[in-house]
Amino acid sequence: MDVREYRDNEVDSWEEVNLIYNAALKQVQTKMEILNDEFQRVHKYNPIEHIKARIKSSGSIVKKLRRYGYESTIENMITYVNDMAGIRIICSFTSDIFRIAEMIENQKDIKVLSVKDYITYPKASGYKSYHMIISVPVYLSDRIVDAKVEVQIRTVAMDFWASLEHKMHYKFEGDAPQHIKDELVECARMVADLDNRMLLLNEEILELSKAQEG
Ligand code: GTP
Ligand code: MG
Repeated sequence: MDVREYRDNEVDSWEEVNLIYNAALKQVQTKMEILNDEFQRVHKYNPIEHIKARIKSSGSIVKKLRRYGYESTIENMITYVNDMAGIRIICSFTSDIFRIAEMIENQKDIKVLSVKDYITYPKASGYKSYHMIISVPVYLSDRIVDAKVEVQIRTVAMDFWASLEHKMHYKFEGDAPQHIKDELVECARMVADLDNRMLLLNEEILELSKAQEG
């Protein structure tokens, strides 16, 4: 591990940092599962399809700090790396994305530090996802520390697209053949169309089943 030991009153070792971010990640994951369970009980429906959580590897942290032009210290990592702890929430429909984002915002002990809405404003690549940087309090034996967690909310179809696009990026290191990039942009358009049609279809099915019940 190339992250140099940094000493102050707050966090003083890589092991402690790891412990704190792991705790933050577990808390957010549990919060999401509870919201999903409650939603299921009230509305007979799960907005969350599944959840993926990960801690950034030390190699990726060092690479990111270098890209930003910072030394690999624990202090810099805490300050500048917002995705040390990352959670990806995958849902079925675009409407679920905003529902989940709102539920996160309404949690009293979660602070929303920033939001990037690539659903309303997709990237030029075609990338769609709703990003939030949040912070949650982690209760240690003698103090409370805030830890940042990056939350990405997207549909199953958007996740499928993003995985392939990420693979392409990784493979060509950002220098992919134009026809592949063009094809991915076209696929993103199809994904958006599919998401939209599935949403409308779902709404129609819900309406019809309500009418049948009533
Ligand atoms: P980094 O990209 O992590 O340096 O952060 P940023 O400041 O550019 O923030 P942004 O919210 O744009 O991206 C954060 C994360 O979202 C990335 O690390 C990726 O996991 C994901 N992401 C953003 N843009 C894309 C994209 O075009 N394609 C794919 N596949 N993933 C993306
Ligand atoms: Mg990242």
